[in-house]
Amino acid sequence: VQDIWIDCDPGHDDAFALLLAGQTPEINVLGVSTVYGNSSLDHTCQNACRFLTAIHRTDIPVYKGASHPLLVPTLYAPNIHGESGLDGTNLLPKAAMKPREGKAIEAMAKAILSCQPDTCTLVPTGALTNIALLFAVYPEVAAHVKEVVIMGGAMTTGNVTSGAEFNIYCDPHAAQMVLNNPILVGKIVLVPLELTHTAIATPEVLKRMGTPRTPFRTMLVELATFFADTYARVFNVTSGPPMHDVCCIAYVLRPDSFETKLMRVDVVTAASEPSVIGRTVCHVWGQSDLVKNVKVAMKMDVEVFWEMVLDAVERADNR
Ligand code: BDR
Ligand code: CA
Repeated sequence: VQDIWIDCDPGHDDAFALLLAGQTPEINVLGVSTVYGNSSLDHTCQNACRFLTAIHRTDIPVYKGASHPLLVPTLYAPNIHGESGLDGTNLLPKAAMKPREGKAIEAMAKAILSCQPDTCTLVPTGALTNIALLFAVYPEVAAHVKEVVIMGGAMTTGNVTSGAEFNIYCDPHAAQMVLNNPILVGKIVLVPLELTHTAIATPEVLKRMGTPRTPFRTMLVELATFFADTYARVFNVTSGPPMHDVCCIAYVLRPDSFETKLMRVDVVTAASEPSVIGRTVCHVWGQSDLVKNVKVAMKMDVEVFWEMVLDAVERADNR
């Protein structure tokens, strides 16, 4: 069983990531920390508590992390995830749990340090503010981490600006602190947009997800449909929404169903041209002499991915 900690900003795809992690017996979720991003910190934290209630995992401790990035102004994504960060359904239950008292990074450090060296996997699916702070304040945590599997970045084109993907753009300085941290070399896996745009929740997938038509499955389909509509409207992606964050959990579960490439990756934090700020510069062809610091996920077996997700849906629905 793989111990993991999830740092997220639910968020439709973050919610599905919680579902896959929380309803797969091979994964033990030590805790969930939340960060601003898709909506305000209050909203993303509340969404995490409500969604964990929906999947019968109120036993997982939830913490409130950073409400703002390190240096840049705060950005939300109501155009993609709605004002609440998780719009689109009335079937989401009220939270039957509260966030725990105390600082998120302190709880993360405690939980990860209690794991054997090189064993715990950290999964950030939002801005990297909490993660940058964690390793700055508690560098000793790195020795207990097996991998940091980040949803973020792009090798080619971003989704906020031409250069930048949302999670990295939210806090580029935090992202560069994480990717550039020498104590994490060899441990960082980046799951970029090119990969997550193969995890499309097509109408066929949603049909399987919504059958039989239980209230729980209906709620999931309503959430995914809202997400599909915003992707169609904003990006003209009409095949269905990409389940970005879920790909990280899939990697934790079945790394053998992924192809990765080790390369130098840096984050642009200053530029004369604003649209490249937050860009993850990926030296795909080894163009840099600097140490290769990041394993980039290049390909995944999409069939295996949906099998895992739909199995988790079934387990959650049967509880
Ligand atoms: C990322 O941005 C957020 O809106 C999603 O939850 C995902 O983590 C994709 O760029
Ligand atoms: Ca997210």
